[in-house]
This record gives sequence, C-alpha cells and structure tokens, in this order.
Amino acid sequence: MSEWQKSNWREKPRVQMPDYTNPEALAAVEAQLSKYPPLVFAGEARRLKQHLGAAGRGEAFLLQGGDCAESFEQFSADGIRDTFKVMLQMAMVLTYGAKVPVVKVGRMAGQFAKPRSAPTEVVDGVELPSYRGDIINELDFTPEARSPDPAKMLQAYTQAAATLNLLRAFSTGGYADVNQVHAWTLGFTENEKAEKYRELATRISDTLDFMKAAGVNQDTAHTLQSVEFYTSHESLLLEYEEALTRLDSTSGNWLAGSGHMLWIGDRTRQPDGAHVEFLSGVLNPIGLKCGPTTTAEDLKALMAKLNPDNEEGRLTLIARFGAGKVGENLPRLIQTVKEEGANVTWVCDPMHGNTIKSATGYKTRPFDSVLREVREFFAVHQAEGTIPGGVHFEMTGQDVTECTGGVRAVTEEDLSDRYHTACDPRLNASQSLELAFLVAEELSALREARENRQAG
Ligand code: PEP
Ligand code: CO
Repeated sequence: MSEWQKSNWREKPRVQMPDYTNPEALAAVEAQLSKYPPLVFAGEARRLKQHLGAAGRGEAFLLQGGDCAESFEQFSADGIRDTFKVMLQMAMVLTYGAKVPVVKVGRMAGQFAKPRSAPTEVVDGVELPSYRGDIINELDFTPEARSPDPAKMLQAYTQAAATLNLLRAFSTGGYADVNQVHAWTLGFTENEKAEKYRELATRISDTLDFMKAAGVNQDTAHTLQSVEFYTSHESLLLEYEEALTRLDSTSGNWLAGSGHMLWIGDRTRQPDGAHVEFLSGVLNPIGLKCGPTTTAEDLKALMAKLNPDNEEGRLTLIARFGAGKVGENLPRLIQTVKEEGANVTWVCDPMHGNTIKSATGYKTRPFDSVLREVREFFAVHQAEGTIPGGVHFEMTGQDVTECTGGVRAVTEEDLSDRYHTACDPRLNASQSLELAFLVAEELSALREARENRQAG
C-alpha cells in the first residue's frame, strides 16, 4: 500500500480512455478539480464497505441501480427524485422478501463515462470517434461533438455535486418515510395488471399498521423517516478519478472522492492495466464486473491485487453473463473464490449480458431475460451453498420505453415512443418495481428453504 500513488496508473497500459489532443487544457482542468472538495467522505465509504461485507454474509442485500449513463441534457431534479423514489420502493419490497436490510447504492452522481465496443462509429460512410459519455464527448454525430473535451469533467463534477446534494436532502428530509414509500407502491399494485403483486403489498401494509399500533413509529421515527443512500459509478476516466482522490488524514489511506463505491468494467479489468492499478490503492469498496470471458486465472490475480488483505466488503463481484449462460460460468468462478478462500460479495447484473437489437432497430433488453438471469444466479448460489448478495440494474424512475415486457407491457413497436437513454436501455419505473417484487419472491423462497434446512 505504501508504494501506491494516485498517478501510478499512468505507467500502465490503458484502454477505453480518450486521447485528449490539448495537454495544457487537460492539465488545467485536472489542477482545478484537484482543488475542489471531494464529493464523498472516507467515513461514508468505510460504512458502505461494512454494509457490503454484511451483504456478502447474507446479513444484508445490495440494491444498486440507476442510469447506464447520466446525461447533461436530461439532468433534472425530477429525474433524480423519481429514480431515488423507485429505488426506495424496490428496497422496501426487497427488505420484506429478504428480511434483511437493503443497502441502497445509486448509479448516480458520477456515472458519466462509457466503455464502447468499437473506438469509432461509421454513419453513411463517415467515420468518427464513438460517443464515450458526457464527461468525455457528445452524442451528436459531428467531428466537433465527438472530439474529447477535458472541460466536460468540470461540468460532470458540478452535476455530480448537485445530484448528491439533492440525494442527501431526500435521504433525511421526510421524503424517505416508510409509510410514504409504501403508499406509492400501493399505487402500482392498484393497476389491474399488477394484481398478482397485491398480496405481498398488503402484507407490507399490515406490517406497517402493526408497527404503528405498537408505537414503533414514534420510538424509531428517525430510522423510519431517513435512509442511507450511497453513490457509485464505473471508474473509467482516470484523470477525473485521480484529481478527486484525497488522503484521509485519520487513516493515512487514499479515498477516491468521486463516489462511495467504484467499479471496474468488463472491458477494463486487465490485471496489469491502468484501471486495476488505480483502484488497488483507494480505500473505497470496489466492484468488479465478471463476464463470460473472465478466466479463473485473471480472477485470482484480480482478487490478490484488489483485496490483498481479504477484507470483507472491499470486493463485490458483479456477475453479468446473460440469461442461459450463468450455469456454465458462475459455478467455475465461485469455485475459484472458494479455492482462494476469498471474501467477496456476489451481485447479479442481469442487464449487460441481455442486450439485443429489436426488429425495429433499437437496442433493448427483454424483461423476461433480465428476470431469468436473476433466477439462474439465485439457483446457482443455492446449489453451491454460497450467498447471492444483491442485484445491479440499469433503471430509471421515468416512464421510458427502452426495455420490452413487464405487466404494463412495452412492445418492440413501443420502443420508439420514449426511448431516451444516452447509452444502454433501462428498466422503467413500473418494470423496476415489478422486478423487485419478483426478486423478493425468490429471496423469500430461498430464506424459507434455508430455515427449513436449519430446522430439519
Ligand atoms: C455498465 O455497467 O454500464 C457497463 C458498461 O457494464 P459492463 O462493463 O459489465 O459491460
Ligand atoms: Co450499461
């Protein structure tokens, strides 16, 4: 740890990062960001790490969700509020199913940089750099828009700070009150097509009524009216990450100040690469995407490098194989983790392995594939005797039409109606909440099976 420096990644091979053409402009932005306050604090990151450790032991469950890519143009207080709101609803339903606390982590306040499958894009014979997220360049297909501009890092910082400010206010300002959150959920189950979820919602209502009658609300008013909400993003643009990294004076360790939890994407997890090098030295909890191409050898090297002290909650493995591919991939990686005796928290991202192109030309994800991958993830963990620690979704509180399916069915023809994502297709509010109901059913079945085993 002592030899690690926040700029060491610069000597390592880097992928998926822009080539800025004006080094002076880049250096000026980095110098400016280095003087700005960090967005999160070391104590918060440590606390989240403890919660994630609990999720790894089955004593908590992670709900991580938000946009694929946050956008400058679509930035609004209502957008943040709606995603926050649906995440609280989901968390409540999941808490009821799992009977453990749900750790809430937004893909928010920093999720601006995107890895791409190709470095350039060709339209009508014209080739330009790919769009890499609003912190790097712009979506418009012109040479100016696609050229990376370091000044966008300052705008991203400002938007992240404003987002976090609002999230912190919502988390404590009464907006997160359990009764309020549940009233919104009842609105969803009143829809005639959502009636299959009404029974669970009614059971939650009964529990809340009981708590009220027993005086629990008065005694623990603070706990029931506020929530802990954390932020996360893919740590991709390392100039931005380095500039916001700060020494924590109490521990002498380095904090990545851009968000509570940072993850390494499926395309940037080379054990000797720049991204792994950077994240190996910060104290934050770290996520690592694991896909079909993750080998046992790489996973071993990554666990050794990212969590040498085998600290609980430090490393979350985010499995994203695709429906139908979990059975052939997850057991072999679980085996590797077992062989190493490593402490990890297993989480399922059922989005990134299930992206398809619709007949109408849109990138989409069928709700049924998303659900199927989650179910396969749970089934493998049950068979292996390991713990499914959480879920990771691309979702929004807005009523978009980007993923197909759900009780308020979005069809392939509907996709063009409200397709607003800056990158990958997200579950809309109704699909997100429905998925939470279905995951809660799975969790409660798993819990009952475990309790029966223990009793018998
Ligand atoms: C993402 O989470 O948006 C992403 C790009 O995921 P992955 O690295 O797993 O493809
Ligand atoms: Co994505």
